[in-house]
Amino acid sequence: MKLGIVGLGYVGLPLAIAFAEAGNDVVGLDSDSAKLADLAAGRSYIEDVAAAELAAVGPRLHPTADYADLEDREAIVICVPTPLSNSREPDLSYLREAAASIAAHLQPGQLIVLESTSYPGTTREELLPALSEGGRVVGEDFYLAFSPERIDPGRSDHTIRTTPKLVGGITPACTERARALYEQICDTVEVLSSPETAELAKLLENIFRSVNIALVNEVAQLCDRLGIDVWEVVDAASTKPFGFMRFDPGPGMGGHCLPVDPFYLAFKAREHDFYPEFVELAGKVNQAQPEFCVRRIERALNGAGKPVKGSKILVLGAAYKPGIGDTRESPALRIMTLLGDLGAEVSYHDPYVPELPSQGLTSVDLDQGLAGADLLAIVTAHPNVDHAAAVAAVPLAIDFRGITRGSGADNVERL
Ligand SMILES: NC(=O)c1ccc[n+]([C@@H]2O[C@H](COP(=O)([O-])OP(=O)(O)OC[C@H]3O[C@@H](n4cnc5c(N)ncnc54)[C@H](O)[C@@H]3O)[C@@H](O)[C@H]2O)c1
Repeated sequence: MKLGIVGLGYVGLPLAIAFAEAGNDVVGLDSDSAKLADLAAGRSYIEDVAAAELAAVGPRLHPTADYADLEDREAIVICVPTPLSNSREPDLSYLREAAASIAAHLQPGQLIVLESTSYPGTTREELLPALSEGGRVVGEDFYLAFSPERIDPGRSDHTIRTTPKLVGGITPACTERARALYEQICDTVEVLSSPETAELAKLLENIFRSVNIALVNEVAQLCDRLGIDVWEVVDAASTKPFGFMRFDPGPGMGGHCLPVDPFYLAFKAREHDFYPEFVELAGKVNQAQPEFCVRRIERALNGAGKPVKGSKILVLGAAYKPGIGDTRESPALRIMTLLGDLGAEVSYHDPYVPELPSQGLTSVDLDQGLAGADLLAIVTAHPNVDHAAAVAAVPLAIDFRGITRGSGADNVERL
């Protein structure tokens, strides 16, 4: 098939590669010229996509910024960002822009699929009117469906192929075309009755995680008061072979999805005079977790007779999770800001994040950062970092990920 992918980020690029590997001819469209230049030069900017994979599909992936290049495509998949505005409301500007550009070049018979996460109703309320401009009829002149992306960047045990794909079209013909499209790259395609069902299913998956992370973070705060090791508690509960699913405590939630998606659902719910309290409470608890971490840092320094002000604090790991360089909504950023506000001399090391323009910082060499640090804060435990050696190199460390458990070091405190 001739396909187009709009938005070549964490979601769109791996998807474009998967379709190209399946033998399709793929136009990859992005508005970011730096990404297009990387792709043209065979460089990958996504950890999950190896340069060799790019090279292997080379002739079947055509990077472009020109929407006219989508005119000969049978199907177009939209993977643009759906972030929050400053007032924590859905920001659909990228989606609207992409929809208007696609609509301007839409050809008879094209299938358009939205993969970006959004609240139930987005496909029907935003995309359908834009694509129907000029009297085009969905299910006849063009086809429209929603199919949520379920990838987990950095994960290798579940792939695009092995993760079941949900599809819900505006009409049965739309659903059928979307099913046929994804059957090329996914072993299982689950057909749903509507785009709204697929949109809400995606939000439920992420909110389920958000609620459970909030719960275990709250238990971590309680354990701190009770003097109980939260990691041992979670290990113990996890021995139950049914009825319990493990979630680990940490410094808070990050990424494009978990901190954002609950607000999308809450926004839609409010339109219907419904207040999803569970969802909002989870967001509140998780957002407060970096502040709890800073209080733990203050307490640890206080125990060593040092104020935060003027203390040299090295943050180890700035990405929101291990093995990737994504810092969107990363709790490490909030922790660094709060420590800076208290007068700490903050530096960070992250092998995946060379610079943090929002903090005005660049990643320091680990050994240099450790030398002279008053406190090491392990915020994200990346693979291939020797955390035990890092802890051994400083007078005091605090570990928000449980990576130093069992190390026997007596200069490290844990969440
Ligand atoms: N990252 C994840 O783990 C993940 C997982 C599941 C779902 N999602 C969802 O998928 C969507 C995309 O997320 P992402 O992480 O890939 O974002 P991203 O920021 O990594 O990639 C989005 C890309 O879209 C491009 N873009 C923006 N506006 C455009 C436009 N009008 N035309 C063409 N290109 C445009 C950007 O330049 C960028 O390269 C979001 O809705 C997100 O919630 C993300």
